[in-house]
Amino acid sequence: MSHSIFRKDGTAQGVAKQRLIETLAHADKRIINDPYAERFVIGATLIKLLGHKFSVWLSGKFAPGFHEHLISRTRFIDEQVKESASDGFEQYVILGAGYDLRPYRLDLPSSMKVFEVDQMEVQARKRSKLPQNLPNIDNVTYVDIDFNHQSLTEQLLATSFDKNKRTIFTLEGVSQYISKEALASTIKELSKLTQGSSSTFVMSYVNDLIESDPKACFGEGYPRAAERAETIQRLSAKSGEPWVSFYNAEEIEALLSLNGFTVKENRTLADLNDVYFSPAGRSIPEDQIFKLEHFVVAES
Ligand SMILES: C[S@@+](CC[C@H](N)C(=O)[O-])C[C@H]1O[C@@H](n2cnc3c(N)ncnc32)[C@H](O)[C@@H]1O
Repeated sequence: MSHSIFRKDGTAQGVAKQRLIETLAHADKRIINDPYAERFVIGATLIKLLGHKFSVWLSGKFAPGFHEHLISRTRFIDEQVKESASDGFEQYVILGAGYDLRPYRLDLPSSMKVFEVDQMEVQARKRSKLPQNLPNIDNVTYVDIDFNHQSLTEQLLATSFDKNKRTIFTLEGVSQYISKEALASTIKELSKLTQGSSSTFVMSYVNDLIESDPKACFGEGYPRAAERAETIQRLSAKSGEPWVSFYNAEEIEALLSLNGFTVKENRTLADLNDVYFSPAGRSIPEDQIFKLEHFVVAES
């Protein structure tokens, strides 16, 4: 496998691209706003020319609901992070941060220290593309890791991370790319890293029905569900970042519970459609619901 920077940040760019597309929507129609996303997307100028509506339509040709699913994931996690900030949490650790710009776009209080954890090459590219003089930049620490081979505890404790402070951890769009052993050991490390204080852990996972019953991962009547599930996996593998791990709700609950976390919420786009898209007049019909991925909130 190539070790070039481009190959390592392909999926991070893919998510940033959907955030850019959403940001192009009219302010009263958009579900999230990410003014920095365009800096990380190859072809951003063309996407801006094509505009929101056309770009969402194009993405729907690849897989209906694909854009809305990624945007609902981002919005759902945005809300968890903002809630923690207003509850007085003092640390935010973004696991597999990619081109997540939450420290700069969510207006987080300066009392909340942020730790962005990702592969060294991705972090380096991100830092080189960030604008100068971002308001919250001094609050952000970049931490290099390979979840498959390195200890989160060691990497975090080598920084100013404080085990005794209330912390929210997010792992967005990452669990499918790392081994089950790596996820289990990362969650085990979270439990040790948060022994001195209460914490929130928000993660997404891909439903293991993708292998046994792909149709169940989409709304009723979703066109060519099995074929699309296969295409998504094939393209991910082709970009050098294959999906290797899938889970079910019981497995995730058991893994979290083993490490002192209680699951509070488990959502998909099917649950969030009426919360985010319907009020914006963008309700997604049942036969375009993409609910392959689940978004979980757990507390310790
Ligand atoms: C789909 S991107 C999601 C990025 C970001 N969380 C978001 O939602 O925009 C997956 C991220 O996981 C990171 N990642 C994948 N495998 C990893 C590993 N073994 N160690 C550290 N990071 C990894 C990638 O570098 C990438 O930034």
